[in-house]
Amino acid sequence: MNHRIVLLAALLLPAAPLMADVQHGKQLHDANCMKCHGDEVYTRKDRFIAGRDALTKQVKRCHLNVGANWSDQDIADVVQYLDQSYYHFK
Ligand code: HEC
Repeated sequence: MNHRIVLLAALLLPAAPLMADVQHGKQLHDANCMKCHGDEVYTRKDRFIAGRDALTKQVKRCHLNVGANWSDQDIADVVQYLDQSYYHFK
């Protein structure tokens, strides 16, 4: 089979909806989310996010501040990245 077609098919296949792409989340985060605060807010003692739902809401709220228009999948990827790297809810 033509290798270029295989590669193209791999690029066009949508990510499975529930499979968050942590690496993509990190890229989105690092490019957009360090303007007002660094990652110290995720680990400070009095951080106010207490669960995945609250984290999702906060990411939505904060991403509006940067004028980004992320898809639900983008939000999920960033939430997964933050949870895995800092919050450890799951
Ligand atoms: C326009 C400024 C601004 C930008 C840009 C921004 N944030 Fe925030 N973010 C805030 C403020 C203000 C707070 C509350 C900080 C505080 O209470 O000290 C906050 C808090 C948070 C928290 C909660 C921290 C905690 O206490 O647990 C998370 C999570 C968060 N931001 C994620 C993001 C993400 C993801 C992005 C990128 C989409 C982002 N922020 C971009 C202003 C911003």
